[in-house]
Amino acid sequence: MQANTSPAVARVHIHLAERSYPIVIGAGLLGSASTYEQLPKATTALIVSNTTVAPLYAAPLAHALRTRYQKVLQVTLPDGEDHKDWPTLQLIFDALLGNGCDRKTVLFALGGGVVGDMTGFAAASYMRGVPFVQVPTTLLAQVDSSVGGKTAINHPLGKNMIGAFYQPLQVVCDLDALATLPPRELSAGLAEIIKYGPIADMVFLDWIEGHLEALMSKDPAALAHAIQRSCEIKAWVVGQDERESGLRAILNFGHTFGHAIESGLGYGVWLHGEGVGCGMVMAAHLSQRLGLVDMAFVDRLTGLVLRAGLPVKGPVLSATDNAGRYLELMRVDKKSEAGEIRFVVIDGPGKAAVRGAPDALVREVIDACCA
Ligand code: NAD
Ligand code: GLY
Repeated sequence: MQANTSPAVARVHIHLAERSYPIVIGAGLLGSASTYEQLPKATTALIVSNTTVAPLYAAPLAHALRTRYQKVLQVTLPDGEDHKDWPTLQLIFDALLGNGCDRKTVLFALGGGVVGDMTGFAAASYMRGVPFVQVPTTLLAQVDSSVGGKTAINHPLGKNMIGAFYQPLQVVCDLDALATLPPRELSAGLAEIIKYGPIADMVFLDWIEGHLEALMSKDPAALAHAIQRSCEIKAWVVGQDERESGLRAILNFGHTFGHAIESGLGYGVWLHGEGVGCGMVMAAHLSQRLGLVDMAFVDRLTGLVLRAGLPVKGPVLSATDNAGRYLELMRVDKKSEAGEIRFVVIDGPGKAAVRGAPDALVREVIDACCA
């Protein structure tokens, strides 16, 4: 008899009073009817996916959902960060209205963070709110974007600028879905996993350093632990500050520089996780220049980001005034206050803080960190 090597199913809970929900992590979940048996009764389900993920996983999901819903509909969006926009969002509303979907219809976001963010925003706004379930299929989405209820689309002038806080009913992280994930996308997910170490848990950072090869070779036990611990940390933060009035901003470590890179290059040129990986290195340098961490910490983080297959040097966004261009892009950030850029910095290992920094110092960091 062959030993079963699949990790046991784990559950992490997001505690938000009546908006609480479970994150279920394990193998073989997506296509199993029992995964969805706690969801409220409804007639119709709409699977929202994209042209890459739908051919891989929509059929088993639909099969499982047919045991619960009379009608299982599907809409397939174009793939890519550059489609995280109004015209693509409209395709979801077209499917909902075109099929006469009522306000009990449950949306299922099947895909990475782009599909998840757009489906969540559609669910938040269709008939002023319909239920939705996240079925994340990238590592990044399983450890971050599917959890916590941030939904959004991009605007040409700024990333994730139009959206809503809207929690799913459930998050289903199927480890088997990661089998088809390309290496570059796996690395992008590792960026968000690494992020949880410096901001909250240095023991987890030690563990990531020790298990990076296992994660990169998709070892199921390593992936299961990384996803569970990441979700636990995110649940701890979101449970205290759902709408980012304070603490939740620490989850944006690396994102201020990273979002500038993403929008400065044009959405989709660098992956979100690549921007975050490089952005964490830049934010660590800023923390060091502010006297909050030593250079050994910066070198340690840079080494790990590099080993994870992520860029550690920022791209040049302007041949004439590169630092000025970064600063201009970073001012369009949801954390900015009265035009002042607010950075997530590391205030000693395992602890993050949000603060402003003099433009001159930020310019020094950008000059030092861009290739
Ligand atoms: P993505 O959604 O673009 O997915 C990456 C690529 O992998 C896509 O081409 C996708 O089709 C493909 N893919 C997905 N699952 C696959 C699978 N199992 N096998 C093969 N290919 C697969 O990118 P992402 O990295 O998942 O998410 C990035 C997005 O998430 C960004 O828009 C970012 O702003 C957002 N985000 C949101 C939050 C949040 O809290 N809401 C947090 C972090 C990131
Ligand atoms: N990814 C940042 C957040 O959810 O707050």
